[in-house]
Amino acid sequence: MRVFAHRGASAYAPQNTLPSFKKALELKASGIELDVQLSSDGVPVVIHDFFLDRTSDASGFIHSLTWQEIRKADAGLWFGPEFKGTPVPSLEEVLALIPRDVTLNLEIKSISSLEEPVARIVSDLLNQEKERDLIVSSFNHPILKEYQSLDPDVKIGILTGSDFIGFPAYVEASGLRPFSIHPQATYLSAETIREYHERGWQVLTYTVNSLEQAGMVQNLGADGIFSDYPDLLTR
Ligand code: G3P
Ligand code: MG
Repeated sequence: MRVFAHRGASAYAPQNTLPSFKKALELKASGIELDVQLSSDGVPVVIHDFFLDRTSDASGFIHSLTWQEIRKADAGLWFGPEFKGTPVPSLEEVLALIPRDVTLNLEIKSISSLEEPVARIVSDLLNQEKERDLIVSSFNHPILKEYQSLDPDVKIGILTGSDFIGFPAYVEASGLRPFSIHPQATYLSAETIREYHERGWQVLTYTVNSLEQAGMVQNLGADGIFSDYPDLLTR
């Protein structure tokens, strides 16, 4: 079973920052997950929340702040004094760090009511490096549809937060051609996984931080987990 470093090695370093991605690489994570959203001036930035507040010393809605404004925030100090001065990285900076043979799960965060060019901007950036091992995921399925139309060969990962009855029929009707389904671990069952596998979809589940739960989802048949501890199965 594969282990993706969730927001980098986010148990060991501030999530979605260069130190957390460096730590994930050091721990030999087979894949790395990160969250991307656009600043007000269209720069793809790597951060999970829609607001700066929880994971930095600054405040504000990412979509309304310029890249320069976001860049001033300290996204390390909240996690520990040794990370003081760590900024929110741009997607470009993170791509420069992560080797292309380490699977990158790029999750696009986007509020449905925002009309924004995030799929185009991210796919333009990624298309410059064709050989990267990449999965693009999102809870925002229309954004995935747009990304798929811009890059028909992309591996799409459909995120779902609940036990969605009739999910396979929904996916088939959506026109999405997923490589993988990313369900929340608490809602997994062997039957669900079988249904997905029958359709050729891998199952990558989040967020698994205990060995007990990892063993459980592995027994159910999951292909991979997202974990804040990329070394969960080996430490
Ligand atoms: O991509 C898996 C997981 O990261 C989805 O949830 O909220 O941690 O981005 P979240
Ligand atoms: Mg995520």
